[in-house]
Amino acid sequence: MKATLSISGKTKIFGCISDPIEHVRAPSVFNPLFEKHGVDAVMVPLHISSKNLDNVVSGLKAMPNFGGMAITLPHKLPIMELCDQIGKQGQLVGAVNFAAFDDNRRLIGDNCDGTGFVNGMLAAGYSVANKRVLMIGSGGAARAIAFSLADSGVAELSITNRTIVKADELVNSVYKAYPDILVNSVDPDPRGYDIVLNTTSLGLKREDPLPINPEALERHQLVAEIIMNPEDTPILLAAKSRGCKIHYGRPMFDHQVAIIASLFGYDFNI
Ligand SMILES: NC(=O)c1ccc[n+]([C@@H]2O[C@H](COP(=O)([O-])OP(=O)(O)OC[C@H]3O[C@@H](n4cnc5c(N)ncnc54)[C@H](OP(=O)(O)O)[C@@H]3O)[C@@H](O)[C@H]2O)c1
Repeated sequence: MKATLSISGKTKIFGCISDPIEHVRAPSVFNPLFEKHGVDAVMVPLHISSKNLDNVVSGLKAMPNFGGMAITLPHKLPIMELCDQIGKQGQLVGAVNFAAFDDNRRLIGDNCDGTGFVNGMLAAGYSVANKRVLMIGSGGAARAIAFSLADSGVAELSITNRTIVKADELVNSVYKAYPDILVNSVDPDPRGYDIVLNTTSLGLKREDPLPINPEALERHQLVAEIIMNPEDTPILLAAKSRGCKIHYGRPMFDHQVAIIASLFGYDFNI
């Protein structure tokens, strides 16, 4: 295997915790970034079972050269109990996907899914403030994005989902946290919105049906996606052919990386 990292006694260690571990992508994202930015740090995969999470986090806390971790399933919820502080998005979402030790070895966790999406939109020149947004989907990513959209001052957040009860639950949670935002559970009709956002997994496969009727898309609308691969999902292709502006799924990911790096103490410009 080709060694690309030069590890010394001064190298700072970060982890990516998961169970199973083989599929995790964070080390292959962060290590090239550490190298590119000349940061003496390494991220390693840490295979931790749920029953050992408590012990491992205590051990990591006792290691001053361990900086923090990216967190995937099944640890996103249980690790909250072990954090000394949780950011606003993590509290609202009820799950954290990254955590870092501060100078006093306090573990600070948060969730950056939603902020990553909103920051990615902003970087592309699309503010969500005062916009009417139709969000399709009510899964894990949608939940995080919904709170961030509300936090960013959308004029209206309408949510539609195949399983209507899940859309209703998300609407209630957002309304409870942001009572001044107009939030409602609706049919999948995109007419009249400024932004139409697909957060479902429909589009991962080329043959997937569209989550809305593309004929109803309006030329003035921005159609956004969070699926990264394929880049041009069916809803984006339909939006392009209708003359709409489009926003890809990749910026959400890139901006999450920037947020996590920032908590780790590094400024990686995207
Ligand atoms: N760009 C990024 O950084 C980023 C980050 C996270 C996730 N993602 C992408 O976002 C997508 C969703 O992830 P997630 O974690 O939120 O998944 P999830 O929790 O499993 O939610 C999946 C969502 O898709 C809907 N859905 C699935 N199959 C459907 C179908 N056949 N017809 C209609 N709706 C369907 C689900 O509806 P029901 O509630 O009715 O099941 C639910 O709303 C994935 O494709 C993932 O790759 C991207």
